[in-house]
Amino acid sequence: MTAQLIDGKAIAASIKEDLKAQVAALASPPGLATVLVGEDPASHTYIRSKHRLCAELGMQSMHHQLPADATQEQVEAVIAELAVDPAVHGILVQLPLPAHLDEERVLARVPLEKDVDGFHPINVGRLAMKGRRPEFVPCTPAGCMRLLERAGVPLRGARAVVVGRSNIVGLPMALLLNHADATVTIVHSRTVGLEEILRQADIVVAAIGKANFIRGEQLKPGCCVIDVGINRTEAGLVGDVHFDSVKEVAGQVTPVPGGVGPMTLIMLMENTLKAAQKSFQVRELQPGGAG
Ligand code: GUN
Repeated sequence: MTAQLIDGKAIAASIKEDLKAQVAALASPPGLATVLVGEDPASHTYIRSKHRLCAELGMQSMHHQLPADATQEQVEAVIAELAVDPAVHGILVQLPLPAHLDEERVLARVPLEKDVDGFHPINVGRLAMKGRRPEFVPCTPAGCMRLLERAGVPLRGARAVVVGRSNIVGLPMALLLNHADATVTIVHSRTVGLEEILRQADIVVAAIGKANFIRGEQLKPGCCVIDVGINRTEAGLVGDVHFDSVKEVAGQVTPVPGGVGPMTLIMLMENTLKAAQKSFQVRELQPGGAG
């Protein structure tokens, strides 16, 4: 059996066209501000691709670069400025921050309505709870959910296994699958009996950051595999999934590159557009506002 590819690049491209039309219909462009502390080359690359995509969509973007030894107060001061800037609708603080900074305090400074990454503690809390609605959902898990939806993968009652429990991907992914009525198990580096759990999974989301960690022999035939991993190896860029063996067993699988990566970016654009649309609506409703 050879799995069907879930083409994240093509799905992101179709969402991009839709977003472009929505941006063009606005009186002024949505604005995304990125904040990077330090000079991590991978973070720089991610940020550059965010700015490039903003430009392609007709959105504005601005970048704030801080030195690796920036103080907590300096970082929070930049965010405070962006928080009140009416041209900025979304604020993204690139993670990870240098170890001397208090990440939770930094993220809590981003106003809820500009939290396009969905990492503000209140948005995370709302995402965790039944019947609450976060303003925004973190981009990578949101992109994975959109891939599952577009690929027609049934979620209700499905057994889903999320491999990895990071704040950025694994944990919010498990919460989203739970809200979609999947039966969710999170597995991680300390899990006992990983093989048995994986073999029961209808859906596997691999986000553990280890090259080729999941192999086809471990999977239930016909399952759907979403590979979030981006690992630079001597053989080039590979996912957390051993693609060649997995494609012989799974029913559907995302490639690396061209799977989850483009979806993360386009979800950030969608969140920023949504933030801008909401802020324009609020302005129209205010006394003396447009319209
Ligand atoms: N670092 C790795 N992924 C992400 C992400 O989705 N958002 C932010 N802010 N930082 C990241």
